[in-house]
Amino acid sequence: MIKGIVIGFILAIAISVGCVFIYFSAGMAPVATADAPMPFEKKFANMALDAHIEKQHIPPSPVPADEPNFLAGAGVYKQHCAVCHGLPGQIPVDYATTMFPKPPQLFRGKGVTDDPIILLRRNPTGQQLYQSMHVGE
Ligand code: HEC
Repeated sequence: MIKGIVIGFILAIAISVGCVFIYFSAGMAPVATADAPMPFEKKFANMALDAHIEKQHIPPSPVPADEPNFLAGAGVYKQHCAVCHGLPGQIPVDYATTMFPKPPQLFRGKGVTDDPIILLRRNPTGQQLYQSMHVGE
């Protein structure tokens, strides 16, 4: 009885690994830029990214969350980030529409945010942006 369960279990694992191997080796995996993402791809990628950032133990931003710093940050954003991540009311430039993966449009409905100021709302100190610049991700 136990022996049968163990053999069945090993067989199930071997068949699953075989199916995954065939899925990739037979070219069924969506790899073209126009393909839809793999099932659960976004979820797993975000889980891995969040876990990776968490493990970096990045200290809190040393930059105080005050008006002058927000204004200076907006200047940095306009100069270095807006070309891809957009500005309010701006028609997305070619970068935003042709890159793969697409840069999230931070002032448009979907992407990082469902709200133009979500980055600040989700994290009033701009910690996410700080981490992203610090870790480079
Ligand atoms: C040349 C284009 C480009 C520029 C310039 C750029 N980014 Fe990005 N950014 C991207 C792309 C593309 C992604 C999406 C990467 C992905 O999905 O794997 C991204 C992702 C991000 C994310 C992750 C959003 C999320 O889903 O959590 C943040 C935060 C970010 N960028 C911040 C910045 C900041 C801050 C700057 C300026 C200092 C900047 N980016 C400049 C292209 C750019």
